[in-house]
Amino acid sequence: MSDSKQVTWGGRFSDGPSDLMLRFSESVSFDARLAKYDVAVNKAHSAMLAKVGILSKEEKDAIHEGLDRFLKRLEKGEIQWDPALEDVHMNIEQALTKEVPAAAKMHTGRSRNDQIATDMRLFLKEAAAQIRGLLKDCLEILLEKAKAFEDVMIPGYTHLQRAQPVSAAHHLLAYMEMFARDYRRFGAVWEEANECPLGSGALAGSTLPLDREETARLLGFVDDQGKARLTANSMDAISDRDVFLDFAQAAAVCGIHFSRLAEDFILWSSSEFNLLVLPDAFCTGSSLMPQKKNPDAMELLRGKSARLQGNLQTLMVLCKGLPLTYNRDLQEDKPPVFDSYDHLFISLEVLGGCLEGMDFRRENCARAVADPLLLATDLADYLVQQGVAFRRAHHLVGTVVAMAEKANVPIDQLPEEQVRGLDEAFGVDWRDVFSLERARKERRSFGSPGRVPVRDALLNWETRLQEL
Ligand code: ARG
Repeated sequence: MSDSKQVTWGGRFSDGPSDLMLRFSESVSFDARLAKYDVAVNKAHSAMLAKVGILSKEEKDAIHEGLDRFLKRLEKGEIQWDPALEDVHMNIEQALTKEVPAAAKMHTGRSRNDQIATDMRLFLKEAAAQIRGLLKDCLEILLEKAKAFEDVMIPGYTHLQRAQPVSAAHHLLAYMEMFARDYRRFGAVWEEANECPLGSGALAGSTLPLDREETARLLGFVDDQGKARLTANSMDAISDRDVFLDFAQAAAVCGIHFSRLAEDFILWSSSEFNLLVLPDAFCTGSSLMPQKKNPDAMELLRGKSARLQGNLQTLMVLCKGLPLTYNRDLQEDKPPVFDSYDHLFISLEVLGGCLEGMDFRRENCARAVADPLLLATDLADYLVQQGVAFRRAHHLVGTVVAMAEKANVPIDQLPEEQVRGLDEAFGVDWRDVFSLERARKERRSFGSPGRVPVRDALLNWETRLQEL
């Protein structure tokens, strides 16, 4: 047994928790990173207590000065966190009380339950804003690259089989749509986090005349008009972890997006595809095979996406079936959130670096996309324009494909009479469809990979990015 009685809640206990229990139950090893938010919450709460007359102005000033000194020590890395004090809240309160007697009043009308819920919402707001900043950086780099490779045509794939030609820009713009949705999703996370639970107490509020709006305003939980945004039910407020789930979900979906990009880039940079070069700075060699250049950054991005999904899963399982309200299980909510934040953050930084340094191998792309079979669908469209029903057009072109395969010649080099003999809809100009230029010109509709819609999309993105 530990000698010291637990200072903060030890009143009813005759003995302190065992050392094993302290090691088991402490959270300061991971929640210390919330210290700056906890200080902000302490300041706002004590300012409010002074406003409603529970603290004198002198007491509040002493608490604020003590908290400022604490922050300075924190920034210098001078704080020694004590696991025997369990968590970041108790560590800060104890450190402060040692030099500021009035700090013993700081926890008035408050519980660690509403305190941690508030700290985490402050963390999540800042985290969501930072992730949005990184997503915006990636979007900007992607747009630059899309512009640079507007005229590079590559095969687009379905079932990992060459399907139809697309411009590399169109492919890169597809990722932009995904990351733009992530950007919006993190915006929604920020909005959800922007409600202040402080004042909910342990679960049942307080008998003291707390001014919840005041603390909410002081902590920046406000709407566009500066009006305080408060959680509406004390029991929900301290047990709700939805915004944690929202954050982890947004991170997991973003991970799915960069994992898919990574998979494309891994394939494209392989000798088999050879369409893309990844920057040396984000690749590694083999300790044994001197020729190797491995796409490790991309593989790690793919791998990181797994842990982002795992963290979401952990949080969902953690919350399901918990009775209202606070249960200590909820202390386990922080490591998955922090892990998702940390790994998403660095993943987006790495993604930006890889995107910045990547290059398409123009000659190989041209060769890969030169296969006229990629325009077989365009030949069917041609027949449709001659009045043939699409099903029959599809069948006719299938026959032409089979003939080319049998004769072992490219589809556009089959003898004239053989093809035109199939159906009178094949005119003298049937071979014209086997032109990439034509294929790009004819794709005019919004959102398609034709020359004009891609140009429009690139221009449109300039505006969209400015609006982010
Ligand atoms: N460290 C705790 C947590 O993260 C703070 C809340 C503790 N509340 C309690 N009733 N023991 O969940």
